[in-house]
Amino acid sequence: MKALKYVWDAEGWEYFMRLFIAINLSEPMKTALVNAQNEMYDRGVRGNYTPEENLHLTLAFIGEVPDAEPVLEALSSVSFAPFELCLEGMGCFGDLRWAGMRKSLPLAMLARKIRHALAEGGIPFDRKRFSPHITLLRRARGDMPGIRLDGASMTVDAVSLMRSDRGKSGMIYTELGRIPAEKA
Ligand code: 2AM
Repeated sequence: MKALKYVWDAEGWEYFMRLFIAINLSEPMKTALVNAQNEMYDRGVRGNYTPEENLHLTLAFIGEVPDAEPVLEALSSVSFAPFELCLEGMGCFGDLRWAGMRKSLPLAMLARKIRHALAEGGIPFDRKRFSPHITLLRRARGDMPGIRLDGASMTVDAVSLMRSDRGKSGMIYTELGRIPAEKA
């Protein structure tokens, strides 16, 4: 059962959805991440591991909005060329463990363009500095072993507008739309 959120405003009850903009990962990239998760688990790290289908890289977090259309419209002005994303290193924010990626100017530029387009379109979003990471697990317990992420890489050829719903056994992410990269 989805945790639907309704609020009352002048127009009546309105449904709010939780949106974010992300790069969805290729299957080989997800496999490399799952291998790292398995290794962590085997070495005694416990916590809420991100299921394979939910692994992603967030570029901007929008949060609760009543309508996805204005977001898609704002994003339609964003253009970018395909680029390579390469896994590199791991780190943590408190008890959240993440996989990092090789420093990438095209990635930084893409996040910047997206955030600029959102701001121009009057779409609210979390303005915290972009800190690219892929969450591997939350509420991690146990020592963080030094796991080597294999240097899996993928070509980023689209950016997705995602909706996040709380399911019975975890988060459910649904793609609402995508902005393809320019044809090479
Ligand atoms: P996280 O994995 O580091 O929590 C969906 O919630 C995605 O949006 C996640 O990738 C999450 O990052 C990211 N995100 C960024 N800012 C957020 C915020 N203020 N609240 C919830 N999720 C946020």
